[in-house]
Amino acid sequence: MKKSIDRGIITPHPVLIIGTYDKDGTPNAMNAAWGGQVGSNQISVSLSTHKTTENIKLNREFTVAFATADQVEACDYVGLVSGSKVPDKLEKCGFTVTQSDRVNAPVIDQLPVTIECRVVALQEEFGETRVVAEIVGMKADEEVLTDGKVDLGKLRPVIYDTAGKCYRVVGDSVGGAWNVGKKLL
Ligand SMILES: Cc1cc2nc3c(=O)[nH]c(=O)nc-3n(C[C@H](O)[C@H](O)[C@H](O)COP(=O)(O)O)c2cc1C
Repeated sequence: MKKSIDRGIITPHPVLIIGTYDKDGTPNAMNAAWGGQVGSNQISVSLSTHKTTENIKLNREFTVAFATADQVEACDYVGLVSGSKVPDKLEKCGFTVTQSDRVNAPVIDQLPVTIECRVVALQEEFGETRVVAEIVGMKADEEVLTDGKVDLGKLRPVIYDTAGKCYRVVGDSVGGAWNVGKKLL
Protein backbone atom coordinates (compact mmCIF):
# COMPACT_ATOMS: atom_id res chain seq x y z
CA MET A 1 0.00 0.00 0.00
CA LYS A 2 1.29 3.48 -0.85
CA LYS A 3 1.90 5.84 2.09
CA SER A 4 1.67 9.63 2.05
CA ILE A 5 5.05 11.22 2.75
CA ASP A 6 5.39 14.77 4.17
CA ARG A 7 7.03 16.55 1.31
CA GLY A 8 6.95 15.79 -2.39
CA ILE A 9 10.11 16.29 -4.39
CA ILE A 10 11.41 15.21 -7.77
CA THR A 11 13.97 12.48 -7.30
CA PRO A 12 16.73 11.89 -8.32
CA HIS A 13 18.35 15.27 -9.04
CA PRO A 14 21.25 15.84 -11.43
CA VAL A 15 24.42 17.19 -9.81
CA LEU A 16 25.42 20.30 -11.75
CA ILE A 17 28.77 22.02 -11.18
CA ILE A 18 28.34 25.65 -12.20
CA GLY A 19 31.49 27.45 -13.38
CA THR A 20 31.73 31.25 -13.38
CA TYR A 21 34.24 34.11 -13.29
CA ASP A 22 34.04 36.96 -10.81
CA LYS A 23 34.68 40.64 -11.57
CA ASP A 24 38.46 40.09 -11.26
CA GLY A 25 38.45 37.04 -13.54
CA THR A 26 38.89 34.53 -10.69
CA PRO A 27 37.21 31.23 -11.58
CA ASN A 28 34.69 29.73 -9.19
CA ALA A 29 32.49 26.64 -9.08
CA MET A 30 29.49 25.55 -7.04
CA ASN A 31 27.36 22.44 -6.75
CA ALA A 32 23.68 22.83 -7.71
CA ALA A 33 21.20 20.00 -7.54
CA TRP A 34 18.09 22.17 -7.87
CA GLY A 35 18.14 22.44 -11.63
CA GLY A 36 17.67 20.66 -14.90
CA GLN A 37 16.78 20.73 -18.57
CA VAL A 38 13.85 22.89 -19.70
CA GLY A 39 12.65 22.17 -23.23
CA SER A 40 15.18 21.15 -25.86
CA ASN A 41 17.75 23.92 -25.52
CA GLN A 42 17.45 25.59 -22.12
CA ILE A 43 18.25 24.82 -18.51
CA SER A 44 16.98 26.24 -15.25
CA VAL A 45 18.71 26.40 -11.85
CA SER A 46 17.44 27.77 -8.53
CA LEU A 47 20.13 29.68 -6.68
CA SER A 48 20.28 31.23 -3.22
CA THR A 49 22.68 34.08 -2.46
CA HIS A 50 26.13 32.80 -3.44
CA LYS A 51 29.27 34.09 -5.09
CA THR A 52 28.13 32.11 -8.16
CA THR A 53 24.78 33.96 -8.22
CA GLU A 54 26.63 37.29 -8.11
CA ASN A 55 28.96 36.14 -10.92
CA ILE A 56 26.08 34.98 -13.12
CA LYS A 57 24.29 38.32 -12.67
CA LEU A 58 27.53 40.08 -13.65
CA ASN A 59 28.53 38.03 -16.73
CA ARG A 60 25.19 36.45 -17.72
CA GLU A 61 27.22 33.44 -18.92
CA PHE A 62 28.34 30.28 -17.14
CA THR A 63 29.18 26.63 -17.62
CA VAL A 64 27.54 23.53 -16.17
CA ALA A 65 29.61 20.37 -15.79
CA PHE A 66 28.19 17.04 -14.69
CA ALA A 67 29.56 15.69 -11.43
CA THR A 68 31.17 12.27 -11.75
CA ALA A 69 31.87 9.40 -9.37
CA ASP A 70 35.61 9.85 -10.00
CA GLN A 71 35.49 13.50 -8.85
CA VAL A 72 32.78 13.19 -6.19
CA GLU A 73 34.87 14.64 -3.34
CA ALA A 74 35.82 17.78 -5.25
CA CYS A 75 32.24 18.15 -6.53
CA ASP A 76 30.90 17.99 -2.96
CA TYR A 77 33.61 20.37 -1.71
CA VAL A 78 32.51 23.13 -4.13
CA GLY A 79 29.06 22.82 -2.53
CA LEU A 80 30.43 23.19 0.99
CA VAL A 81 32.71 26.20 0.66
CA SER A 82 32.09 29.66 -0.80
CA GLY A 83 34.48 31.35 -3.20
CA SER A 84 33.79 34.59 -1.34
CA LYS A 85 35.46 33.11 1.78
CA VAL A 86 38.01 30.83 0.07
CA PRO A 87 39.33 32.62 -3.04
CA ASP A 88 41.49 29.61 -4.06
CA LYS A 89 38.54 27.23 -3.67
CA LEU A 90 39.20 25.49 -6.99
CA GLU A 91 42.90 24.91 -6.29
CA LYS A 92 42.00 23.50 -2.87
CA CYS A 93 39.97 20.70 -4.45
CA GLY A 94 42.35 20.05 -7.34
CA PHE A 95 40.27 21.67 -10.10
CA THR A 96 41.99 23.55 -12.90
CA VAL A 97 40.15 25.45 -15.63
CA THR A 98 40.32 26.42 -19.29
CA GLN A 99 38.45 29.46 -20.63
CA SER A 100 35.48 28.43 -22.77
CA ASP A 101 35.67 29.62 -26.39
CA ARG A 102 31.90 30.15 -26.46
CA VAL A 103 31.08 31.90 -23.18
CA ASN A 104 32.90 34.02 -20.62
CA ALA A 105 33.13 31.19 -18.11
CA PRO A 106 35.60 28.49 -17.08
CA VAL A 107 35.50 24.85 -18.16
CA ILE A 108 36.72 22.56 -15.36
CA ASP A 109 39.44 20.33 -16.81
CA GLN A 110 38.80 17.38 -14.46
CA LEU A 111 35.07 17.05 -15.32
CA PRO A 112 34.67 15.38 -18.73
CA VAL A 113 31.38 16.93 -19.91
CA THR A 114 30.36 20.59 -19.74
CA ILE A 115 27.62 22.67 -21.32
CA GLU A 116 28.09 26.37 -22.04
CA CYS A 117 25.17 28.58 -21.10
CA ARG A 118 23.92 32.13 -21.68
CA VAL A 119 21.26 33.65 -19.42
CA VAL A 120 17.87 34.37 -21.00
CA ALA A 121 15.98 35.20 -17.79
CA LEU A 122 16.72 35.90 -14.13
CA GLN A 123 13.67 35.68 -11.91
CA GLU A 124 13.81 36.79 -8.28
CA GLU A 125 11.11 34.67 -6.70
CA PHE A 126 10.46 33.03 -3.34
CA GLY A 127 13.76 34.31 -1.94
CA GLU A 128 15.91 32.77 -4.66
CA THR A 129 17.20 33.55 -8.12
CA ARG A 130 15.80 31.33 -10.83
CA VAL A 131 18.17 31.30 -13.74
CA VAL A 132 16.96 30.25 -17.16
CA ALA A 133 19.73 29.90 -19.72
CA GLU A 134 20.17 28.83 -23.31
CA ILE A 135 22.69 26.07 -24.04
CA VAL A 136 25.10 27.53 -26.60
CA GLY A 137 27.68 24.74 -26.66
CA MET A 138 29.00 21.57 -25.14
CA LYS A 139 32.47 20.18 -24.50
CA ALA A 140 33.30 16.54 -23.85
CA ASP A 141 36.52 14.58 -23.41
CA GLU A 142 37.01 11.95 -26.11
CA GLU A 143 37.41 9.25 -23.45
CA VAL A 144 33.70 9.49 -22.51
CA LEU A 145 32.36 9.43 -26.08
CA THR A 146 31.06 6.51 -28.11
CA ASP A 147 30.36 7.29 -31.78
CA GLY A 148 30.68 11.00 -30.99
CA LYS A 149 28.02 10.97 -28.27
CA VAL A 150 28.35 11.18 -24.49
CA ASP A 151 28.36 7.66 -23.10
CA LEU A 152 27.03 7.68 -19.53
CA GLY A 153 28.60 4.26 -18.93
CA LYS A 154 32.00 5.88 -19.49
CA LEU A 155 31.21 9.23 -17.84
CA ARG A 156 29.77 7.70 -14.65
CA PRO A 157 27.81 10.82 -13.60
CA VAL A 158 26.33 10.99 -10.12
CA ILE A 159 22.82 11.98 -9.12
CA TYR A 160 21.79 13.50 -5.79
CA ASP A 161 19.61 11.31 -3.60
CA THR A 162 17.55 13.81 -1.56
CA ALA A 163 16.22 11.20 0.88
CA GLY A 164 19.55 9.50 1.56
CA LYS A 165 21.50 12.82 1.28
CA CYS A 166 24.13 11.07 -0.80
CA TYR A 167 25.43 10.82 -4.33
CA ARG A 168 24.67 7.73 -6.38
CA VAL A 169 26.34 6.76 -9.60
CA VAL A 170 24.12 6.40 -12.67
CA GLY A 171 23.75 2.70 -13.40
CA ASP A 172 23.19 0.26 -16.22
CA SER A 173 20.90 0.72 -19.20
CA VAL A 174 17.77 -1.38 -18.67
CA GLY A 175 16.17 -0.89 -22.07
CA GLY A 176 16.11 1.26 -25.17
CA ALA A 177 13.97 4.43 -24.97
CA TRP A 178 11.10 4.57 -27.48
CA ASN A 179 11.90 0.93 -28.08
CA VAL A 180 11.59 -1.47 -25.13
CA GLY A 181 7.89 -0.61 -24.71
CA LYS A 182 7.17 -1.70 -28.27
CA LYS A 183 6.82 -5.23 -26.89
CA LEU A 184 3.51 -4.08 -25.42
CA LEU A 185 2.14 -2.47 -28.59
C1 LIG B 1 24.53 18.42 -3.05
C2 LIG B 1 24.44 19.94 -3.02
C3 LIG B 1 23.49 20.57 -3.81
C4 LIG B 1 23.35 21.95 -3.77
N1 LIG B 1 22.40 22.55 -4.56
C5 LIG B 1 22.24 23.88 -4.54
C6 LIG B 1 21.28 24.50 -5.39
O1 LIG B 1 20.65 23.87 -6.24
N2 LIG B 1 21.12 25.84 -5.24
C7 LIG B 1 21.84 26.61 -4.37
O2 LIG B 1 21.63 27.82 -4.29
N3 LIG B 1 22.81 26.04 -3.59
C8 LIG B 1 23.03 24.71 -3.66
N4 LIG B 1 24.01 24.13 -2.91
C9 LIG B 1 24.86 24.96 -2.05
C10 LIG B 1 26.03 25.66 -2.78
O3 LIG B 1 26.70 24.77 -3.65
C11 LIG B 1 27.03 26.19 -1.73
O4 LIG B 1 26.41 27.14 -0.87
C12 LIG B 1 28.33 26.75 -2.31
O5 LIG B 1 29.25 26.89 -1.26
C13 LIG B 1 28.17 28.09 -3.02
O6 LIG B 1 29.43 28.46 -3.51
P1 LIG B 1 29.84 29.93 -3.97
O7 LIG B 1 29.46 30.89 -2.86
O8 LIG B 1 31.34 29.85 -4.16
O9 LIG B 1 29.11 30.22 -5.23
C14 LIG B 1 24.20 22.73 -2.95
C15 LIG B 1 25.21 22.09 -2.18
C16 LIG B 1 25.33 20.71 -2.23
C17 LIG B 1 26.42 20.03 -1.43
